[in-house]
Amino acid sequence: MSELYGGDEKKRGGLEFLKQWTAEILSKTGEAPRCFVHSFGCQQNVSDGEKLTGALMRAGFEPADNYENARLLIFNTCAVRENAEDKVFSVIGSLKAFREQHPDVFICVCGCMAQEKSAAERLMNTYGQVDLVFGTFVGDELYAMLAELIKSRRRIMNIAEKYADIDEDFVQHRKNGFSAFIPIMYGCNNFCTYCIVPYVRGRERSRAPEAIEGEVRQLVAEGYKEIFLLGQNVNSYSYGFPALLRRLNAIEGDFRIRFMSSHPKDASSELIDTILGCEKVCKHLHIALQSGNDRILAAMNRRYTTADFLKIVDYAREKRPNFSFSTDIIVGFPGETYEEFCDTKEFVKKVKFDNIYSFVYSRRSGTKAAELPDDISDKQKGLWLRELLLENREVQSEWMKRFIGRTCRVLIDGKGKEPDTLTGKNDENIIVNLSGSESLIGQFVDVKITGAMNWAVKGELV
Ligand code: SAM
Ligand code: SF4
Ligand code: F3S
Repeated sequence: MSELYGGDEKKRGGLEFLKQWTAEILSKTGEAPRCFVHSFGCQQNVSDGEKLTGALMRAGFEPADNYENARLLIFNTCAVRENAEDKVFSVIGSLKAFREQHPDVFICVCGCMAQEKSAAERLMNTYGQVDLVFGTFVGDELYAMLAELIKSRRRIMNIAEKYADIDEDFVQHRKNGFSAFIPIMYGCNNFCTYCIVPYVRGRERSRAPEAIEGEVRQLVAEGYKEIFLLGQNVNSYSYGFPALLRRLNAIEGDFRIRFMSSHPKDASSELIDTILGCEKVCKHLHIALQSGNDRILAAMNRRYTTADFLKIVDYAREKRPNFSFSTDIIVGFPGETYEEFCDTKEFVKKVKFDNIYSFVYSRRSGTKAAELPDDISDKQKGLWLRELLLENREVQSEWMKRFIGRTCRVLIDGKGKEPDTLTGKNDENIIVNLSGSESLIGQFVDVKITGAMNWAVKGELV
């Protein structure tokens, strides 16, 4: 049966126990026990997953690429839309037989979905293969919880909402050595009416700028080329986001700075001026529009109008006509009419985004919008979404052509789909495809742009 975690193991005690336990396994078998951490959802969750892996490595685990050879499996979940949760339940469900065949493994589910009481209880009550469920507030209780689980083999659920001081004593295990996620703040205070995030991640807490600067300095010294700052709304970073950008920009080294997300209600002209004035900061803003209709924006509690949004875009493009914007759009908010959806289509064409991440509205129980009448079917909403993307395709590919003939600095981040091809991103966050050798992965190269597709451009090394 489920247990509410109330153990008195302190962080140190739990860590010492785990170190001993992993060392014993190493001396008996010649191999350290492996941990497999899989994160669903957004970059913040991936970053949390990297911290979990780092914490487990400190306790003597080795990271595994595959759950099949791991002793400890952790699934770090997302709750933002229903399909994200369905995916988690399906993965956990498929592990029933594996757990039966390997009774000595431990399966844990954590993160945003696990923080929801109803989901945590469902995991505890109907997924007997799950040993431990913990939410997003567990912080330095991780070691004590795992120690208790291993010692007692009793199932544990720990989803209490706790606000301790931000723990800076962590190691983030990053898989690639050139691009690093750095959380600068946690939580969200905005309560957009459709969104579950403030309920599962709690109120905003910002990391001190000194801690962030120290981490960036170390990463740059280790050779990292891209610093990716993360927060649900970086513009409400308590110590001033533009000031943080300027502080990090002053660090010596060959690297660039990206960040997400920006909320339109807090995006200032100072932010745009700072982006333009800092040579290491990418000339791109990911800023979620959600809807191009003012009634829907108000119903979403977004606290800006389309005119306010356009003011930011115009300010940036006046100073730099090619300034890149990308955005998130929700289609089919409860009560949205086809005419209101068409306003979004028109607005999107006006702004000319480089990239749109669009989603069909998903009802999240506990949010304000979940109580609103919603009489448009998901199928119909899916058709609207398609319509939006099709109409925008032309506008986007025309807009991409502005890069043709230009030479861009590109950070190569992986292999392309065809043999001997590579893919990377320029300073405006545009995907660039080119031919070249794998040895360039993780390097900056200059690329002359020769063609444009609707979601990316192609070019040649110069
Ligand atoms: N904090 C970010 C912001 O406001 O820009 C958004 C983070 S949220 C994790 C990513 C995106 O998911 C949102 O911008 C929104 O478009 C989408 N989203 C959030 N809740 C949703 C819901 N209930 N249904 C559909 N999409 C949703
Ligand atoms: Fe969700 Fe709105 Fe917060 Fe973004 S700003 S995480 S959409 S509540
Ligand atoms: Fe991210 Fe999903 Fe949580 S989008 S903040 S992992 S609900």
